[in-house]
Amino acid sequence: MRVAIACDHAGVTLKQHLIGLLRARGHEVLDLGTHGPESVDYPDYALKVAEEVSAGRASTGILICGTGIGMSLAANKVPGIRAAVATDSYVARMARAHNDANVLCLGARVIGEGLAEEIVDIWLATSAEGGRHALRVEKIRRIEQRYLRHEEYPQTPIAKV
Ligand code: RB5
Repeated sequence: MRVAIACDHAGVTLKQHLIGLLRARGHEVLDLGTHGPESVDYPDYALKVAEEVSAGRASTGILICGTGIGMSLAANKVPGIRAAVATDSYVARMARAHNDANVLCLGARVIGEGLAEEIVDIWLATSAEGGRHALRVEKIRRIEQRYLRHEEYPQTPIAKV
């Protein structure tokens, strides 16, 4: 997989650790910064990863800040992005299987390296289940489309699976 990864100043150490893990697992890593301890604004880095994933240049993205929250809020403003904060492996698996999330957000001040590794492994190994979950993800896309095009929320029925 080609994985785009970025962090703010709170996530530099964890990002480096996870880059090592990803490379050891055979993934191609696109490191979009930040690289040092100087204070930076997390939306700038969320945008970099979100645009790579949204454009299809990366299969998935990983964003790290203090809590993961700021990164997820910013990344979710980019059309096509479903960013999820995962604090444990169950949430990571469900975010992929049910929500078809495409950007993983981690809180470097919340979880340690061991748990982060487990979450990343589960994230990369889990695919979207489809079926009824895909219908709900499609509804998310339609909400997004409404605000992008200033359209009415489409009421056309989606067939139940
Ligand atoms: C930076 O201090 C912190 O606010 C940021 O890393 C993140 O936790 C925001 O959501």
